[in-house]
Amino acid sequence: MDRNSQDGDNEFESNTPPKGCQHYANLSDMPWDIQKYYDQRYSIFSQYDEGIWMTEDAWFGVTPEPVAKKVAEHVAEAAPESKAILIDCFAGVGGNVIAFARSGRWRRVYAIEKDPRALACAKHNAEIYGVRDQISWYEGDCFKILRNELADLGKHSVVFASPPWGGPGYRSDTVFDLTRMQPYTLLDLLKPLQKLANNVVLYLPRTSDMRQLAAQSRGSSKTMVMHYCMEGASKAICAYFGAFTFR
Ligand SMILES: C[S@@+](CC[C@H](N)C(=O)[O-])C[C@H]1O[C@@H](n2cnc3c(N)ncnc32)[C@H](O)[C@@H]1O
Repeated sequence: MDRNSQDGDNEFESNTPPKGCQHYANLSDMPWDIQKYYDQRYSIFSQYDEGIWMTEDAWFGVTPEPVAKKVAEHVAEAAPESKAILIDCFAGVGGNVIAFARSGRWRRVYAIEKDPRALACAKHNAEIYGVRDQISWYEGDCFKILRNELADLGKHSVVFASPPWGGPGYRSDTVFDLTRMQPYTLLDLLKPLQKLANNVVLYLPRTSDMRQLAAQSRGSSKTMVMHYCMEGASKAICAYFGAFTFR
């Protein structure tokens, strides 16, 4: 069931993580298959030691804080001034949405996440970063929530989407075929998001097929694609659809 839990859930007020959320204070407490991520904990969340919660999937899906911060800066600067709302459709454990709220650019930030465990982590992590109350939280399928509950906000909003990157070849292909991304292809994402808002930002694999992105530009408008790097290597790209002005 879709649920707007903006005003807080008692379940999440405690500092004990609910089932499926963890804070690992030691490497040896972690399941072996995710131990390789432990060293990255401070680049994922610099305030990790304050008690950041993660789901197991989030260790490889979360946007690291320096990247999230830079993306948030770019979206804040480049979006038209008239856009006062930021909607993060795939909030995960909060990597991006916390950075958007911390930018101070938005009158309101909306976070949608279908996995209740990830959503619990995101709220808790946003609390650690002091921005939980600036975010309206929605549990459920983003496509339904955008259509049924947030449609009126579209014209005032920038919509950001960092979908799962599943599908054949994400790690091994030289060029990642966005028509085979799972569970949502490029068009599965863009069509409904662009129906809601003119300004859409997609966070995608660094090897994404540029021709497929270019083919989705409307009319004579250009789509800006930016690589976001850490330690000299690209982590991901953002594709900016609609009127964004980069200085
Ligand atoms: C790559 S992660 C997002 C990571 C997030 N940007 C962060 O930094 O924590 C993708 C998330 O999308 C969620 N998701 C997948 N399909 C969804 C849908 N239809 N509606 C809302 N959330 C969805 C998954 O549960 C997962 O947490």
